[in-house]
Amino acid sequence: MKHFLEENNFEKEEIEAVFNQAFQFKKNRINQPTQDLFGQSWGMLFYKNSTRTRVSFEVGIKELGGHPVLLDLSSTQIGRGESIKDTAKVLSRFLDGLIIRTHGHELIEEFSRYAEIPVVNALTDFLHPCQIYADCMTIMEKTCKSYNPYQELRGKKLAFFGDTSCNMANSWILAGALWGMEIYLSGPEEFKPTEEIEIFCKNCGLPSNWKYTPDYAEAANDADILYTDVWVSMGCEEEESDRKEKMSPYQVNNHLLEKAKSDVLFMHCMPAHPGEEVSKEVLASPKSILFDQAENRLHMQKAILKQLSKY
Ligand code: CP
Repeated sequence: MKHFLEENNFEKEEIEAVFNQAFQFKKNRINQPTQDLFGQSWGMLFYKNSTRTRVSFEVGIKELGGHPVLLDLSSTQIGRGESIKDTAKVLSRFLDGLIIRTHGHELIEEFSRYAEIPVVNALTDFLHPCQIYADCMTIMEKTCKSYNPYQELRGKKLAFFGDTSCNMANSWILAGALWGMEIYLSGPEEFKPTEEIEIFCKNCGLPSNWKYTPDYAEAANDADILYTDVWVSMGCEEEESDRKEKMSPYQVNNHLLEKAKSDVLFMHCMPAHPGEEVSKEVLASPKSILFDQAENRLHMQKAILKQLSKY
């Protein structure tokens, strides 16, 4: 049995198989539904709001011939204080896998310690690995010839702007380490990447090939991809006005785009806030590939579930 809590939970050969499978799922979606999860029930436990993740997992499980079981705090005993240990052990008696979106990463780690079924990270405050896999698939389908992230992503420069201490920034740091990308992170000093991600990479033996700079022009210079995320992450609503003021110089706009390569791509995991972290012009430009990223969540997550169901 295997869990998918962090981008590096799969070995190299498994990652290559997952990416290849995701492209096959996309190509054959209409005329070749599969039975890879036939007879299986997968739980989807969401502590936080979601549109893309929730719908893409539910549709994906159905397209693989499985049955999604939707769970949330208010309708389960978790919301009334039942322990993670008991919940994980009980759900393991009913389900074939469990997809969780929650706050602290330690909570999903606790689930994975007690679960006897695969646990999938559908976002924690620390990492968003399903999003990163789908994003890398999207970069590859726009710019590459093969389905191999080790061959195709090496050397690509991705510049991330805004809150560089957030889960997406952490996940890009991990992606850069795994696939040899050059990751630049640019935002206010107060929102620099945390020590936690540095320690995590070190403990996993992953290289630190990323750079933080408060200079957005340096980050954008000659970049292949400009990426941003919301300035006010879920749970940070009380800091809204302070964050918006401090992060406003890091908006991805045409001025920033001009510093990047002429064929630069603009990416955002969504939900987007036009006029805040990204200008309306950039969002509407042909360089913007947000909706392809969103669609690829479906194909990539189907490939991840198929891979996990093999063990
Ligand atoms: N990007 C993303 O995870 O979207 P949702 O919060 O809508 O799932």
